[in-house]
Amino acid sequence: MWRNGSHRYGLVSISFHWAIALAFVALVGLGAWMVGLSYYDPWYNDSLALHKAIGIVALALAVSKFGWRFADPRPGLAPDLKPHERAGATVMHGCLNALIVLVPVTGYVISTSEGAGIDMFGLFELPAVRGMTEALRDLAIELHYYLAYAGIALVAVHAGAALKHHFIDKGSTLKRMLNPRAPSGRRG
Ligand code: HEM
Ligand code: HEM
Repeated sequence: MWRNGSHRYGLVSISFHWAIALAFVALVGLGAWMVGLSYYDPWYNDSLALHKAIGIVALALAVSKFGWRFADPRPGLAPDLKPHERAGATVMHGCLNALIVLVPVTGYVISTSEGAGIDMFGLFELPAVRGMTEALRDLAIELHYYLAYAGIALVAVHAGAALKHHFIDKGSTLKRMLNPRAPSGRRG
């Protein structure tokens, strides 16, 4: 139930997936909205503070997810996928897994490169990175921007593929990511 089987996702992996998915989509929305606010908007400062703190939570979830894999290896892809779908899913999952680390890390570099730490919901402060050059900060700004928006395009393809496989091909992938007791889709 909690742990993955050879062809099933357990509750821990399912919870990581949906928590990270929700955080990623919400952070792109929040990020796109906040950069359009004027200096006089009441949300000008708070929206960025919230974006940073939730972004760090997303990073912590991603790192924990990778850590959890050592204790609980991932199941294989659903056996009812065709070879080209398996290849596509493997590449897509690799890209998404890279993005859920790279986007918040570049955000952290942008935010702390001038020496200020990150206020985590008023509970504690994360220290700033030291020794950051102007060039590295500019690179982080570019990467944060392009990777976040490329990420949301990839998520649209990823979610579209999951929905197509569920509703049109009547496959098992989405059920596996929603219910740890779902049939595995294994033939025979
Ligand atoms: C918003 C709607 C989304 C839907 C409907 C969805 C659906 C799914 C499904 C069905 C799988 C299981 C594929 C399999 O059988 O192996 C999966 C896996 C995966 N998804 Fe999503 N997903 C969504 C959003 C996201 C987002 C926003 C991210 C990250 C930015 C993400 C990252 C991943 C990764 C990395 C995997 C591979 C398994 C893992 O490493 O945890 N997904 N997704
Ligand atoms: C998965 C996590 C994250 C996502 C998806 C994300 C997404 C975004 C997006 C879409 C923007 C707007 C870019 C634009 O249109 O110019 C943005 C801006 C920004 N984000 Fe994030 N972000 C994440 C995490 C973080 C973290 C952890 C921090 C800092 C600790 C951070 C700091 C910033 C800053 C400072 C900006 C403004 C950059 C500028 O004004 O050019 N982000 N983010």
